[in-house]
Amino acid sequence: MLPMLILIFWAILARSWPLAATHPLPPTAQKSIFILAGQSNMAGRGGVTNDTATGVTTWDGIVPPDCRPNPSILRLAANLTWMEAREPLHSDIDYNKTNGVGPGMAFVHAILRAAKLEFGLVGLVPCAVGGTKITEWQRGTVLYDQMTRRAQAALRGGGRIRAVLWYQGESDTLEREDAELYKRRLEGLFVDLVADLQSPGLPIIQVALASKVGPYTETVRAAQLGISLPNVRTVDAMGLPLEPGGLHLTTPAQVQLGKMLARALLNSIPKPISLISSKAPTMMPSNFILDFLLRLVRILGTI
Ligand SMILES: *[C@@H]1O[C@H](CO)[C@@H](O)[C@H](O)[C@H]1NC(C)=O
Ligand SMILES: *[C@@H]1O[C@H](CO)[C@@H](O)[C@H](O)[C@H]1NC(C)=O
Ligand SMILES: *[C@@H]1O[C@H](CO)[C@@H](O)[C@H](O)[C@H]1NC(C)=O
Repeated sequence: MLPMLILIFWAILARSWPLAATHPLPPTAQKSIFILAGQSNMAGRGGVTNDTATGVTTWDGIVPPDCRPNPSILRLAANLTWMEAREPLHSDIDYNKTNGVGPGMAFVHAILRAAKLEFGLVGLVPCAVGGTKITEWQRGTVLYDQMTRRAQAALRGGGRIRAVLWYQGESDTLEREDAELYKRRLEGLFVDLVADLQSPGLPIIQVALASKVGPYTETVRAAQLGISLPNVRTVDAMGLPLEPGGLHLTTPAQVQLGKMLARALLNSIPKPISLISSKAPTMMPSNFILDFLLRLVRILGTI
């Protein structure tokens, strides 16, 4: 029995090492994939100014060092091809609006600084659309379907979805009913999304609102801060600087938020998984099973 087990283990290792040893990854290779979804503050309005006389909005084009392009950071364009990621990340997704800087690039830079080996090539999948309510993101809606379709397209070239970043809710602060139903709808979305992406335990890092748009902001914030799903982490954006108008985070605020999201994700990954992943960034059955077991233990531990 024991020799048999050793043989099986050896066979798995022998299969794994040569795969793990492949170097400079082409754009079609294994990626750490992140889904970006929600409304305008995820799409990014940092540096977008509004000429109140004419109502014309323009982006100032300022890209801080934390948001600069880097050959190892890719973006899935609206036409489902990978390209080097550049601000504004959502220009062809939230195409009716003037997009600026969001949290995505600063998030990836922070992740790569903290865990270079572990994440390797990064693939961002922007899906956010400004002005959308949570009802527009429930399973079966256009935006939900687009998000899951884009996530599946992102996986086609190889890789693994590492997390969903979610920032939405401003549009649900205007009416009492929307605010009161927010928690149930948000939890429903998160549960459905993880199931439909077939990624049990997939981390979702969400943002609690920074702006006080509607009269029911505190109800929505309480819902966000009260989510208690084991795979969901919440960072609170309240207090970050806003553009004039009081709705959108400024570019420096988005950089700070990106770093907060990165810290929340890195803190939510148990160490053993990082060690395994840094040796073998490809998705092998052995790692996959170990990863799954570790996540299961973690989930059971939090119940
Ligand atoms: C720009 O300002 C005008 C006038 O204050 C306002 O009606 C409009 O909604 C603003 N547009 C954006 C995108 O903020
Ligand atoms: C896909 O979209 C990007 C960005 O809009 C564009 O640069 C690229 O040429 C497009 N690729 C194809 C194959 O259409
Ligand atoms: C853009 O505007 C058109 C026309 O109103 C609408 O049909 C479409 O859904 C909008 N798309 C996005 C991404 O905002």
